[in-house]
Amino acid sequence: MEKVVSGIRPTGNLHLGNYFGAVTSFVKMQEQFDCMFFIADWHSLTTHPKPGDITKSVDTILAEYLACGIDPSKATIYVQSDVPQVLELYLYLNMNAYLGELERVTTFKEKARQQPDNVNAGLLTYPTLMASDILIHRALKVPVGKDQEQNMEMARKCARRFNNIYGVEFFPEPQSFHFTAQAVKIPGLDGSGKMGKSQDNCVYLKDDEKTIRKKVMKAVTDCGPSQPNSPKPEVIQNLFDIMAVVSTPDTVEHFDTAWNDCSIRYGDMKKQLAEDINAFCAPIREKITEYSSNTELLHRVAREGAEKARISAQATLDEVRQIIGFHK
Ligand code: TRP
Repeated sequence: MEKVVSGIRPTGNLHLGNYFGAVTSFVKMQEQFDCMFFIADWHSLTTHPKPGDITKSVDTILAEYLACGIDPSKATIYVQSDVPQVLELYLYLNMNAYLGELERVTTFKEKARQQPDNVNAGLLTYPTLMASDILIHRALKVPVGKDQEQNMEMARKCARRFNNIYGVEFFPEPQSFHFTAQAVKIPGLDGSGKMGKSQDNCVYLKDDEKTIRKKVMKAVTDCGPSQPNSPKPEVIQNLFDIMAVVSTPDTVEHFDTAWNDCSIRYGDMKKQLAEDINAFCAPIREKITEYSSNTELLHRVAREGAEKARISAQATLDEVRQIIGFHK
Protein backbone atom coordinates (compact mmCIF):
# COMPACT_ATOMS: atom_id res chain seq x y z
CA MET A 1 0.00 0.00 0.00
CA GLU A 2 1.23 3.49 -0.80
CA LYS A 3 2.58 5.40 2.15
CA VAL A 4 1.20 8.76 3.21
CA VAL A 5 2.89 10.90 5.87
CA SER A 6 1.61 14.08 7.43
CA GLY A 7 2.65 16.03 10.47
CA ILE A 8 0.99 18.71 12.53
CA ARG A 9 2.76 21.03 14.93
CA PRO A 10 1.18 20.86 18.40
CA THR A 11 0.32 24.51 18.81
CA GLY A 12 -3.21 24.44 20.17
CA ASN A 13 -6.64 23.15 19.33
CA LEU A 14 -8.02 22.15 15.96
CA HIS A 15 -10.41 24.62 14.37
CA LEU A 16 -13.02 24.27 11.64
CA GLY A 17 -10.40 25.23 9.05
CA ASN A 18 -8.17 22.32 10.10
CA TYR A 19 -11.16 20.03 10.15
CA PHE A 20 -12.48 20.74 6.66
CA GLY A 21 -9.08 21.51 5.18
CA ALA A 22 -7.17 18.46 6.32
CA VAL A 23 -8.68 16.19 8.93
CA THR A 24 -11.70 15.05 6.89
CA SER A 25 -9.30 14.05 4.10
CA PHE A 26 -7.14 12.15 6.58
CA VAL A 27 -10.19 10.22 7.69
CA LYS A 28 -10.89 9.19 4.10
CA MET A 29 -7.24 8.54 3.26
CA GLN A 30 -6.84 6.05 6.10
CA GLU A 31 -9.22 3.75 4.20
CA GLN A 32 -7.02 3.70 1.10
CA PHE A 33 -3.43 4.25 2.07
CA ASP A 34 -0.89 3.27 4.65
CA CYS A 35 -1.13 6.53 6.60
CA MET A 36 1.27 7.87 9.18
CA PHE A 37 -0.12 10.89 10.99
CA PHE A 38 2.29 12.31 13.51
CA ILE A 39 2.57 15.19 15.93
CA ALA A 40 5.63 17.28 15.15
CA ASP A 41 6.76 18.09 18.68
CA TRP A 42 10.42 18.44 17.68
CA HIS A 43 9.46 21.09 15.16
CA SER A 44 7.63 22.99 17.88
CA LEU A 45 10.89 23.41 19.84
CA THR A 46 12.01 26.20 17.50
CA THR A 47 10.00 28.57 19.69
CA HIS A 48 11.25 27.11 23.02
CA PRO A 49 7.90 26.05 24.56
CA LYS A 50 7.59 25.13 28.24
CA PRO A 51 7.63 21.39 29.07
CA GLY A 52 4.07 21.39 30.41
CA ASP A 53 2.80 23.12 27.28
CA ILE A 54 4.23 20.41 25.01
CA THR A 55 2.69 17.57 27.00
CA LYS A 56 -0.66 19.31 26.99
CA SER A 57 -0.69 20.19 23.30
CA VAL A 58 0.35 16.69 22.28
CA ASP A 59 -2.49 15.16 24.29
CA THR A 60 -4.87 17.72 22.82
CA ILE A 61 -4.06 16.80 19.23
CA LEU A 62 -4.24 13.09 20.03
CA ALA A 63 -7.69 13.47 21.58
CA GLU A 64 -8.93 15.70 18.79
CA TYR A 65 -7.63 13.44 16.02
CA LEU A 66 -9.42 10.49 17.58
CA ALA A 67 -12.59 12.52 18.09
CA CYS A 68 -12.58 13.46 14.42
CA GLY A 69 -12.45 9.83 13.37
CA ILE A 70 -8.79 9.12 12.73
CA ASP A 71 -8.70 5.49 13.67
CA PRO A 72 -5.55 3.98 15.18
CA SER A 73 -6.51 0.56 13.84
CA LYS A 74 -6.34 1.98 10.31
CA ALA A 75 -3.75 4.77 10.46
CA THR A 76 -0.56 5.00 12.47
CA ILE A 77 -0.77 7.92 14.86
CA TYR A 78 2.47 8.78 16.62
CA VAL A 79 4.46 11.48 18.31
CA GLN A 80 7.58 12.49 16.37
CA SER A 81 9.84 12.48 19.44
CA ASP A 82 8.99 8.81 20.04
CA VAL A 83 10.80 7.90 16.82
CA PRO A 84 14.52 8.71 17.30
CA GLN A 85 15.36 7.25 13.87
CA VAL A 86 14.07 10.51 12.40
CA LEU A 87 16.91 12.41 14.05
CA GLU A 88 19.63 10.18 12.67
CA LEU A 89 18.35 10.64 9.16
CA TYR A 90 18.03 14.39 9.87
CA LEU A 91 21.74 14.48 10.61
CA TYR A 92 22.60 12.73 7.35
CA LEU A 93 20.33 15.03 5.36
CA ASN A 94 21.82 18.09 7.05
CA MET A 95 25.30 17.08 5.84
CA ASN A 96 24.06 17.52 2.28
CA ALA A 97 21.94 20.64 2.79
CA TYR A 98 23.51 24.02 2.13
CA LEU A 99 23.28 27.20 4.14
CA GLY A 100 22.30 29.26 1.10
CA GLU A 101 19.32 27.16 0.13
CA LEU A 102 18.08 26.89 3.71
CA GLU A 103 18.34 30.65 4.18
CA ARG A 104 16.27 31.20 1.05
CA VAL A 105 13.24 29.31 2.39
CA THR A 106 10.44 31.84 2.80
CA THR A 107 9.13 30.40 6.07
CA PHE A 108 12.65 30.71 7.53
CA LYS A 109 12.92 34.32 6.43
CA GLU A 110 9.49 35.06 7.87
CA LYS A 111 10.25 33.41 11.21
CA ALA A 112 13.63 35.13 11.37
CA ARG A 113 11.80 38.42 10.99
CA GLN A 114 9.15 37.52 13.58
CA GLN A 115 11.62 36.29 16.20
CA PRO A 116 14.89 38.15 15.49
CA ASP A 117 16.26 37.23 18.94
CA ASN A 118 15.82 33.53 18.31
CA VAL A 119 17.05 32.68 14.83
CA ASN A 120 18.33 29.26 15.84
CA ALA A 121 19.83 26.42 13.82
CA GLY A 122 16.67 24.35 14.30
CA LEU A 123 14.68 27.03 12.56
CA LEU A 124 17.16 27.03 9.69
CA THR A 125 17.06 23.25 9.35
CA TYR A 126 13.29 22.96 9.77
CA PRO A 127 13.00 21.78 6.14
CA THR A 128 15.55 18.97 6.57
CA LEU A 129 13.75 17.74 9.69
CA MET A 130 10.51 17.74 7.72
CA ALA A 131 12.26 15.93 4.86
CA SER A 132 13.45 13.36 7.37
CA ASP A 133 9.88 12.86 8.70
CA ILE A 134 8.80 11.98 5.18
CA LEU A 135 11.83 10.11 3.83
CA ILE A 136 12.21 7.98 6.97
CA HIS A 137 9.08 6.12 5.79
CA ARG A 138 9.90 6.53 2.10
CA ALA A 139 6.44 8.04 1.70
CA LEU A 140 5.20 9.03 -1.73
CA LYS A 141 2.31 11.23 -0.75
CA VAL A 142 2.21 14.12 1.69
CA PRO A 143 -1.12 15.85 2.26
CA VAL A 144 -0.11 19.46 2.96
CA GLY A 145 -1.31 22.92 2.07
CA LYS A 146 0.22 25.32 -0.42
CA ASP A 147 2.25 27.01 2.30
CA GLN A 148 4.38 23.85 2.54
CA GLU A 149 5.40 23.72 -1.12
CA GLN A 150 8.91 25.01 -0.55
CA ASN A 151 9.47 22.51 2.25
CA MET A 152 8.24 19.76 -0.07
CA GLU A 153 10.68 20.91 -2.72
CA MET A 154 13.47 20.66 -0.15
CA ALA A 155 12.32 17.13 0.74
CA ARG A 156 12.55 16.13 -2.91
CA LYS A 157 15.94 17.78 -3.19
CA CYS A 158 17.16 15.84 -0.13
CA ALA A 159 15.94 12.58 -1.67
CA ARG A 160 17.52 13.31 -5.06
CA ARG A 161 20.78 14.48 -3.57
CA PHE A 162 21.15 11.44 -1.37
CA ASN A 163 20.46 9.16 -4.35
CA ASN A 164 22.96 11.06 -6.52
CA ILE A 165 25.76 11.18 -3.98
CA TYR A 166 25.62 7.45 -3.33
CA GLY A 167 24.59 6.38 -6.83
CA VAL A 168 21.44 4.66 -5.63
CA GLU A 169 17.72 4.79 -6.36
CA PHE A 170 16.82 4.59 -2.71
CA PHE A 171 14.55 7.46 -1.74
CA PRO A 172 11.46 8.12 -3.85
CA GLU A 173 10.59 11.78 -4.37
CA PRO A 174 7.56 12.63 -2.23
CA GLN A 175 4.76 14.69 -3.74
CA SER A 176 2.22 16.92 -2.07
CA PHE A 177 -1.17 15.41 -2.34
CA HIS A 178 -4.68 16.75 -2.27
CA PHE A 179 -7.29 14.17 -1.63
CA THR A 180 -10.13 16.22 -3.00
CA ALA A 181 -9.76 18.04 -6.31
CA GLN A 182 -10.58 21.34 -4.70
CA ALA A 183 -9.16 22.04 -1.28
CA VAL A 184 -11.86 23.26 1.06
CA LYS A 185 -10.88 26.66 2.35
CA ILE A 186 -12.69 27.80 5.46
CA PRO A 187 -12.58 31.57 5.83
CA GLY A 188 -12.09 33.25 9.19
CA LEU A 189 -14.74 35.26 11.02
CA ASP A 190 -12.80 38.50 10.67
CA GLY A 191 -13.88 39.20 7.12
CA SER A 192 -10.85 38.22 5.10
CA GLY A 193 -8.43 35.36 4.59
CA LYS A 194 -8.67 31.87 5.92
CA MET A 195 -9.31 30.58 9.37
CA GLY A 196 -6.03 30.34 11.27
CA LYS A 197 -4.85 30.22 14.86
CA SER A 198 -2.53 33.16 14.52
CA GLN A 199 -5.30 35.32 13.08
CA ASP A 200 -7.56 34.82 16.10
CA ASN A 201 -10.57 34.32 13.81
CA CYS A 202 -11.32 30.67 14.54
CA VAL A 203 -14.11 28.50 15.77
CA TYR A 204 -12.40 25.61 17.56
CA LEU A 205 -13.89 22.13 17.51
CA LYS A 206 -13.91 22.19 21.30
CA ASP A 207 -15.71 25.56 21.60
CA ASP A 208 -18.98 25.30 23.54
CA GLU A 209 -22.30 26.59 22.28
CA LYS A 210 -22.01 29.94 24.02
CA THR A 211 -18.52 30.58 22.71
CA ILE A 212 -19.55 29.66 19.18
CA ARG A 213 -22.52 32.02 19.34
CA LYS A 214 -20.42 34.86 20.69
CA LYS A 215 -17.79 34.44 17.99
CA VAL A 216 -20.25 34.11 15.12
CA MET A 217 -22.39 37.06 16.23
CA LYS A 218 -19.24 39.18 16.20
CA ALA A 219 -18.26 38.09 12.66
CA VAL A 220 -17.57 40.98 10.32
CA THR A 221 -20.39 41.95 7.92
CA ASP A 222 -21.23 44.99 5.82
CA CYS A 223 -24.25 47.30 5.68
CA GLY A 224 -26.26 44.98 3.43
CA PRO A 225 -26.99 44.62 -0.29
CA SER A 226 -27.70 47.92 -2.00
CA GLN A 227 -29.60 46.42 -4.90
CA PRO A 228 -31.13 43.04 -5.82
CA ASN A 229 -28.91 40.26 -7.18
CA SER A 230 -25.66 42.06 -6.52
CA PRO A 231 -22.46 40.06 -6.12
CA LYS A 232 -21.56 39.26 -2.53
CA PRO A 233 -18.58 41.08 -1.06
CA GLU A 234 -15.89 38.87 0.49
CA VAL A 235 -17.04 39.34 4.09
CA ILE A 236 -20.51 38.08 3.23
CA GLN A 237 -19.36 35.32 0.91
CA ASN A 238 -17.24 34.07 3.80
CA LEU A 239 -20.30 33.52 5.98
CA PHE A 240 -21.98 31.70 3.11
CA ASP A 241 -18.86 29.56 2.64
CA ILE A 242 -18.94 28.42 6.24
CA MET A 243 -22.68 27.85 5.99
CA ALA A 244 -22.10 25.66 2.94
CA VAL A 245 -20.23 23.10 5.02
CA VAL A 246 -22.30 23.06 8.22
CA SER A 247 -25.87 23.93 7.20
CA THR A 248 -28.43 22.16 5.02
CA PRO A 249 -28.75 23.22 1.36
CA ASP A 250 -32.23 24.57 2.20
CA THR A 251 -30.82 26.91 4.79
CA VAL A 252 -28.14 28.17 2.44
CA GLU A 253 -30.72 28.73 -0.27
CA HIS A 254 -33.00 30.58 2.12
CA PHE A 255 -30.33 33.15 2.95
CA ASP A 256 -29.10 33.29 -0.61
CA THR A 257 -32.60 34.25 -1.74
CA ALA A 258 -32.82 36.78 1.06
CA TRP A 259 -29.52 38.30 -0.07
CA ASN A 260 -30.72 38.51 -3.64
CA ASP A 261 -34.02 40.20 -2.81
CA CYS A 262 -32.36 42.45 -0.22
CA SER A 263 -34.45 41.12 2.67
CA ILE A 264 -31.47 39.53 4.42
CA ARG A 265 -30.92 40.22 8.10
CA TYR A 266 -27.40 39.38 9.12
CA GLY A 267 -28.46 38.86 12.73
CA ASP A 268 -30.79 36.04 11.65
CA MET A 269 -28.20 34.54 9.39
CA LYS A 270 -25.54 34.55 12.09
CA LYS A 271 -27.93 33.06 14.62
CA GLN A 272 -28.67 30.22 12.23
CA LEU A 273 -25.00 29.80 11.37
CA ALA A 274 -24.03 29.62 15.05
CA GLU A 275 -26.73 27.02 15.64
CA ASP A 276 -25.59 24.90 12.71
CA ILE A 277 -21.92 25.13 13.64
CA ASN A 278 -22.86 24.06 17.12
CA ALA A 279 -24.96 21.13 15.88
CA PHE A 280 -22.07 20.09 13.70
CA CYS A 281 -19.44 20.39 16.44
CA ALA A 282 -21.44 18.99 19.35
CA PRO A 283 -20.80 15.27 18.74
CA ILE A 284 -17.11 15.91 18.03
CA ARG A 285 -16.88 18.11 21.12
CA GLU A 286 -18.36 15.36 23.28
CA LYS A 287 -15.79 12.91 22.04
CA ILE A 288 -12.97 15.41 22.58
CA THR A 289 -14.05 15.74 26.20
CA GLU A 290 -14.28 11.99 26.58
CA TYR A 291 -10.87 11.24 25.03
CA SER A 292 -9.10 14.15 26.71
CA SER A 293 -9.93 12.77 30.11
CA ASN A 294 -8.73 9.30 29.13
CA THR A 295 -4.97 9.83 29.13
CA GLU A 296 -4.48 6.10 29.47
CA LEU A 297 -6.10 5.60 26.08
CA LEU A 298 -4.22 8.52 24.52
CA HIS A 299 -0.91 7.21 25.72
CA ARG A 300 -1.69 3.69 24.55
CA VAL A 301 -2.53 5.02 21.07
CA ALA A 302 0.73 6.99 21.00
CA ARG A 303 2.76 4.05 22.27
CA GLU A 304 1.34 1.59 19.76
CA GLY A 305 1.67 4.11 16.95
CA ALA A 306 5.29 4.76 17.88
CA GLU A 307 6.07 1.05 17.81
CA LYS A 308 4.77 0.77 14.26
CA ALA A 309 6.48 3.98 13.17
CA ARG A 310 9.81 2.87 14.63
CA ILE A 311 9.72 -0.40 12.72
CA SER A 312 9.06 1.41 9.44
CA ALA A 313 11.75 4.00 10.26
CA GLN A 314 14.36 1.48 11.33
CA ALA A 315 13.98 -0.47 8.09
CA THR A 316 14.88 2.70 6.15
CA LEU A 317 17.70 3.60 8.50
CA ASP A 318 19.33 0.15 8.28
CA GLU A 319 19.61 0.55 4.53
CA VAL A 320 20.72 4.18 4.76
CA ARG A 321 23.56 3.24 7.13
CA GLN A 322 24.70 0.56 4.77
CA ILE A 323 24.54 2.89 1.76
CA ILE A 324 26.56 5.55 3.60
CA GLY A 325 29.19 2.97 4.46
CA PHE A 326 28.69 2.29 8.15
CA HIS A 327 29.06 -1.33 9.04
CA LYS A 328 26.02 -3.05 10.49
N1 TRP B 1 5.69 21.86 8.43
C1 TRP B 1 4.37 21.34 8.61
C2 TRP B 1 3.44 22.51 8.99
O1 TRP B 1 3.90 23.49 9.49
C3 TRP B 1 4.32 20.28 9.69
C4 TRP B 1 5.16 19.10 9.34
C5 TRP B 1 6.33 18.74 9.94
C6 TRP B 1 4.89 18.16 8.31
N2 TRP B 1 6.80 17.60 9.37
C7 TRP B 1 5.97 17.23 8.36
C8 TRP B 1 3.88 18.01 7.36
C9 TRP B 1 6.03 16.16 7.45
C10 TRP B 1 3.95 16.94 6.49
C11 TRP B 1 5.02 16.02 6.52
O2 TRP B 1 2.27 22.42 8.79
